[in-house]
Amino acid sequence: MAILVTGGTGYIGSHTVIRLLEKEQEIVIIDNLFNSKLSVIESIEKITQKKVNFYCGDVCNRQMIRDIFMRHNIKSVVHFAGLKAVGESVEKPLIYYHNNIMSTLSLLAVMDEYHCKRLVFSSSATVYQDAKTVLPEQIGTGIIEGKAISEDFPLNATNPYGMTKLMIEQVLRDIYMSDNQWDIVILRYFNPIGAHESGLIGEDPNGIPNNLMPYILEVAKKKRPYLNIFGNDYPTKDGTGVRDYIHVMDLADGHVKALEHMESRCGLKTYNLGTGKGYSVLELVNTFKKVSGVDIPYRITGRRLGDIASCYANPSKAEKELRWKANYSLEDMCRSAWKWATVKNLSFNGDEENV
Ligand code: NAD
Ligand code: UD1
Repeated sequence: MAILVTGGTGYIGSHTVIRLLEKEQEIVIIDNLFNSKLSVIESIEKITQKKVNFYCGDVCNRQMIRDIFMRHNIKSVVHFAGLKAVGESVEKPLIYYHNNIMSTLSLLAVMDEYHCKRLVFSSSATVYQDAKTVLPEQIGTGIIEGKAISEDFPLNATNPYGMTKLMIEQVLRDIYMSDNQWDIVILRYFNPIGAHESGLIGEDPNGIPNNLMPYILEVAKKKRPYLNIFGNDYPTKDGTGVRDYIHVMDLADGHVKALEHMESRCGLKTYNLGTGKGYSVLELVNTFKKVSGVDIPYRITGRRLGDIASCYANPSKAEKELRWKANYSLEDMCRSAWKWATVKNLSFNGDEENV
């Protein structure tokens, strides 16, 4: 019996595959390598000393998924495959809707054909409406850290990427309503950072990074002269944005727990995967400086459009029901990210004039 991992050569998928291989699971990966590299398979096999079955292909290709189901006895699926850049999704909504929605529909149809009804789906904290707004009266009133976000917070999306996650979540709820033989776990990730302790795999974004840690790594590697900090006038502890950074290996463990939870039939469940702690941009920068010994020059610039002051999880549901808890510290996250950046000697291809 095998686990099919879509998007398994990507950032979160590859770390999760390692944990699953360590649990002696047979793994089948499908990835079209749009945002990852074939060498990840080699690294996974080197780290675990185990083999994975890899198919280079598109999850939208229903016949290919069928072929995989014909060849392997798939008992459950972890569906990571998807496009994830918020800004790009605003510019290219059709590509995002097509890729993220069509791939999921194809996958679900084939799972249904083969009576494989166990799915873990990668959702995001971006689906929470309340995380997106700081009330005008809150600005300038001192320290307001906001509320920890629980799974029952109102949902809404402000960009096509987030909308695909919301739409897929709805599809999954409808499928479960129509057939309660399905077991579906929706995991809403907060801000994954860090890398496997070996330094052999990690986040490897194309072009100019949008997210904070990949940008810090490029500054640390002297590829970019300084970090732009998007605003220091938020109602947070030091004025910079607060987020719930979670080590990617903790996230990987969350998937293992979700799959274990399904063994005894769970129905449809939704869980936040976060630490429950919020750290500011400056706290992350200072922690990175401390563990790496490398200076990170920065400039305070204006707020980034669409950014929010503070966003962190209430992870108690996952703690209670999945018996999962994030264990790694912010130092661990920074140390492993830096190790990955130095071991891998990341290939950079951004343009300096865009800094
Ligand atoms: P990633 O881009 O590193 O990995 C996704 C993988 O899916 C890539 O290897 C890509 O090549 C593959 N892929 C995309 N479309 C495909 C398709 N149609 N067929 C086959 N392969 C396809 O991203 P990640 O950070 O590992 O994210 C994994 C999942 O988690 C995504 O669904 C993402 O939306 C979600 N998520 C990520 C974050 C984050 O901050 N990284 C936060 C919340 C949710
Ligand atoms: C991003 C995604 C969101 C996703 C979340 C978790 C965007 C616009 N949003 O949000 O959909 O759910 O990750 O994966 O991509 N910052 C800087 N300078 C930088 C980069 C970031 O100051 O160069 C600040 C931001 O203003 C923010 C914090 O760092 O306060 C974290 O930013 P980022 O890593 O982009 O994550 P999110 O904004 O949480």
